[in-house]
Amino acid sequence: MKKSCIDLRVVGVEHLNEKYVLLKLTDSTPLPAMMPGQFVEVRVDDSPQTFLRRPISINFFDEARNELWLLVAAIGEGTRRMARLKVGDMLNCVLPLGNGFTMPATPGERLLLVGGGVGVAPLLYFGKKIRDLGACPTFLLGARSARDLLELDYFAKYGEVCVTTEDGSLGEKGFVTNHSVLDSRRFDRIATCGPKPMMLAVAGYARQSGIECEASLENMMACGLGACLCCVEKTTEGNLCVCKEGPVFNIRRLLW
Ligand SMILES: Cc1cc2nc3c(=O)[nH]c(=O)nc-3n(C[C@H](O)[C@H](O)[C@H](O)COP(=O)(O)OP(=O)(O)OC[C@H]3O[C@@H](n4cnc5c(N)ncnc54)[C@H](O)[C@@H]3O)c2cc1C
Ligand code: FES
Repeated sequence: MKKSCIDLRVVGVEHLNEKYVLLKLTDSTPLPAMMPGQFVEVRVDDSPQTFLRRPISINFFDEARNELWLLVAAIGEGTRRMARLKVGDMLNCVLPLGNGFTMPATPGERLLLVGGGVGVAPLLYFGKKIRDLGACPTFLLGARSARDLLELDYFAKYGEVCVTTEDGSLGEKGFVTNHSVLDSRRFDRIATCGPKPMMLAVAGYARQSGIECEASLENMMACGLGACLCCVEKTTEGNLCVCKEGPVFNIRRLLW
């Protein structure tokens, strides 16, 4: 897939709460095709500490409006600067990078998309593309508390939404792997993105239940292009660059 380096214009900034911001970006020419699960490398300007680009998932691609959405958790210098962007500002992005999630083979395939924290980001566009194919995904979204559950209204447009919070402030209390939907429903495939302990637990459940599972890894990255080797993951096929061979891996390839 051809990669582009584009100055995107900020056309929307939604502060979901004090930590999370949803950026909506566009360009005067059509944005390149993108697959759910791919990511962009964002250049953070005017910040000597943030020399390297920062990887951010494609949260949503609205083809009709030519809009790319990025869901950002402001946790450090680079992401805090992104959270301070205003409508009209420009953001330089290299995109689309990495592989993507496997699309359903048939509309009848029952997909469970499991996300935790800001790891829900790539699952929204994936859910939309699944829905476009005529299937209806189930989203299982977990967070520490209700305020950390993101974009629930958007997810509800494309499938059933199940929720867990660790403090019980919304949905079922506990972790995603404790949710009752896992006991009451049979799924053909699982896709997951979020904190590593959560993905390990989801992978364990998938293995135990004999369900195919893909996980999107968030290893530290620098170049995003397979050149610097700072993102390598040990796999059954040796060391692989998560930025180029991933970020999405079938769990059978991971040494988890
Ligand atoms: C493929 C991929 C997709 C991602 N998608 C998103 C997304 O959609 N939204 C989002 O908010 N974040 C996403 N991240 C994480 C994001 O890239 C990091 O949070 C960001 O690089 C931190 O930069 P910073 O300058 O704000 O923080 P820094 O000042 O560099 O670091 C602050 C803290 O964040 C930690 N950190 C740095 N990089 C990462 C990382 N890759 N993963 C976890 N912790 C990190 C550091 O260890 C440090 O503790 C993604 C990461 C990858 C690899
Ligand atoms: S980030 Fe440089 S090789 Fe993956």
